[in-house]
Amino acid sequence: MGYMIPMRVLGIETSCDETAAAIVSDDRTILSNVVLSQLDDHRPFGGVVPEIAARAHLEHLDSIIARARDEAGIELGALDGIAATGGPGLIGGVIVGVMTAKAIAAARDLPFIAVNHLEAHALTARLTDDVAFPYLLLLISGGHCQLLIVEGVGRHVLLGTTMDDAIGEAFDKTAKLLGLGFPGGPAVEAAARDGDPARFRLPRPLKGRAGCDFSFSGLKTAVRQAALDLGHDPTAQDAADLAAGFQAAVADVLTDRCRHALAEFTTRHPDVPPVLVAAGGVAANQTLRSALTTVSEAQGASMVAPPPALCTDNAAMVAWAGIERLRTGAPDTLDFRPRPRWPLAELHAAQ
Ligand code: KG4
Ligand code: ZN
Repeated sequence: MGYMIPMRVLGIETSCDETAAAIVSDDRTILSNVVLSQLDDHRPFGGVVPEIAARAHLEHLDSIIARARDEAGIELGALDGIAATGGPGLIGGVIVGVMTAKAIAAARDLPFIAVNHLEAHALTARLTDDVAFPYLLLLISGGHCQLLIVEGVGRHVLLGTTMDDAIGEAFDKTAKLLGLGFPGGPAVEAAARDGDPARFRLPRPLKGRAGCDFSFSGLKTAVRQAALDLGHDPTAQDAADLAAGFQAAVADVLTDRCRHALAEFTTRHPDVPPVLVAAGGVAANQTLRSALTTVSEAQGASMVAPPPALCTDNAAMVAWAGIERLRTGAPDTLDFRPRPRWPLAELHAAQ
C-alpha cells in the first residue's frame, strides 16, 4: 500500500485486569507498549473483581495513554486510528476503554476501531513474526481454549473448543487449590519446576479421541482428589509434584489435540506450509511452548508463539488488530456497543 508515512494506531486494552495502551505502526514496529497490572488490587480477593477492575481502569487509563503517547513521541492528532477492545470481557472495563477511544477519535476526527480481544490475540503472531494467512491457531487464555484456522482478518474456521472449563481457568483453580496464589498460571509454572510430574497419575481428558475439542474439568477434579487423598494439607513438595503433574497432563492434551488439528489443516490447505501459532496468556508457559514446538516439528510444521509479554493481555495486540482492520475494511461507527460476549464466529457477520 502506498503510505508515505507508516500508518500508526493507538490501542487500548481494558477487558480484564490490565490497563494498557500502545502505539504500533504498520511496518510492525511497537513504538510504545504500556501495561499497568492491577494484580495488587485483586490479590486479596483471590481473583479479578469486576467492579474494582472497572474503577481502576477509569482511574488510570488517561495517564497510561499519555505515557504511551510520550514514549512513542507522537501526538494523538498525528495518529491514523484509535483502537480499543470492544469485547469480549468484563463489561465495566470494556466500556471504559471504548468510551475513551471514541472520545479521542471524535475530538481528533480519527477512525475508531472496536477490536475483538480474541482476534487481537489471534493476529499478534503477524505483528511479531509476520506469519502469513492461513495458519492454525491454538488460542489458550483465561476464558478460552480453541483451535481455529485463521484464514484472514475476521475470517476463522473453528476446529475445536473446550467443552467445559477454559484452560487458564484450570490453571487458576489448580493454583488456588494448591495454595500457590494468584494469578495461577505463572504460579503453577514456577511450582512445577521443582516437581515430579510422574508422582501423581492424572487423567488426560479426550486424549486419543477423534477431533479437536478439549475438556479440563475431569483433570481439575482429579487434582483436587489427589490433594485430598494425601490426608494432610499439601506440603510444598506435594504442591510442586501436583503442579508438575497437572502441567504435564495439560501439555499431553494440547499436543494430542494439535496433532489432529495440524492434520485437518493440511487436508484443507495441502499447498500451505503449516504453521501452528499459540496465543493467549497460557501460551506464555515455557513447558507448553516446548511441547507444542515438538509436536509441530514432528508433523513438519513450524510453531510460532509471541514473546510471553505479548501473549498475556497487552494493548500492542489491540493496536495491531486495529491496523489490520483499517487495512482491510472500514472503521467502526461511534454507536458501537461494547460486547461482553463476542465469539470469533460472529466477527465476520458483524462487519
Ligand atoms: O490472555 P490473558 O492474559 O487474559 C485473557 O484474555 O483471559 O490470559 C490470562 C490467563 C490466566 O488464566 C493466567 O493464569 C494464564 O493466562 N497464564 C498462564 C501463564 N501466564 C498467564 N498460564 C500458564 N502459564 C503461564 N506462565
Ligand atoms: Zn486475553
